Amino acid sequence: MTQKYIPLKDHETPIKVLFTGYLCSVAVGYFFALIQILFTHGMADGKLGLSLDDIVYSYYGNRSGTVLEKKLNGSMKQNASEKERFEIMQWVRDGADVKTYESSGVKKIIDERCVMCHNKEAGTIPDFSDVEVLKTVTTEDQGATFASLTRVSHIHLFGISFIFMFVGIIFSFAQSPTMQYKCIAIGMPYAFLLVDILSWWLTKIHPMFAILVVFAGMGMGVSFMFMWAISILEMWFYPQVFINKASGEPRKQLSTVILEKLAPLGGDTNASFLTNVFTISKTVFAVVADIWINSLLPFIKDKLNKKS
Ligand code: HEC
Repeated sequence: MTQKYIPLKDHETPIKVLFTGYLCSVAVGYFFALIQILFTHGMADGKLGLSLDDIVYSYYGNRSGTVLEKKLNGSMKQNASEKERFEIMQWVRDGADVKTYESSGVKKIIDERCVMCHNKEAGTIPDFSDVEVLKTVTTEDQGATFASLTRVSHIHLFGISFIFMFVGIIFSFAQSPTMQYKCIAIGMPYAFLLVDILSWWLTKIHPMFAILVVFAGMGMGVSFMFMWAISILEMWFYPQVFINKASGEPRKQLSTVILEKLAPLGGDTNASFLTNVFTISKTVFAVVADIWINSLLPFIKDKLNKKS
């Protein structure tokens, strides 16, 4: 097949410098984006570090009730009588209306029972002498609002598709991966980007989709790293990485090497990507099933029999 494009390694140095400058800036940007995620979403459950709970709290919210109710049933329980606590909760359930704050008698309870600690001088704990501050602990935490999701969705779709447009253009000049794998690497971030945005909305509706947010984020990251590394290596380290020093011949393509390694499982360098995925997973599944039926299951049965 004749090459209809200039391979990355043959570009003029100024172009290589331009491409490299762009790739490096975007990589640093990606790094800061990850830190930003760690500090905004990562802290959602009160602990540093990203967990599924963080994602659920960020998008779906923590809907097990309001902070005020949880505290009145928890660490603040002994500060008011059963009846007083009930009256406060009643007011919260009725919408924590500022207009009925005094008339319902809740202001009196708060002033008598809570403001001795929750006042202006208290420092870190909220000052309940101001009803507006009290209100902040009476709303159900519903996570991201639809308005904020709409805003972040369109910013992400426009912004990230631009980043992957340029990374993809640069990578499209790479010559070491096969045409098929290049198409997959270039298309993958866009597929994952759409899944990512979709998964936020789905998580807003139901917390079980939080895992999809993680999956899509990782998919985007993996394709980004792959295109980034191949592009940089081809531009600046082509002879060292892709040429066999002894023979002077190009090294085998990575996909070929991997498929040859997977040949016992049905890997075939002539077959298409999907066929390979299909046959290899079929073999892996058969092997796992075989181990389960012939080794693991008898082993467990044996253990159980011995016990009884
Ligand atoms: C003896 C002092 C004291 C009294 C009285 C008191 N609190 Fe607290 N309150 C605290 C302290 C200290 C904290 C922070 C530690 C914690 O969360 O348990 C706190 C935390 C809270 C929080 C959580 C604030 C947040 O932002 O996380 C709420 C809600 C709360 N109190 C409600 C009440 C209510 C309602 C009353 C009255 C019935 C009350 N407290 C009476 C000392 C007090």
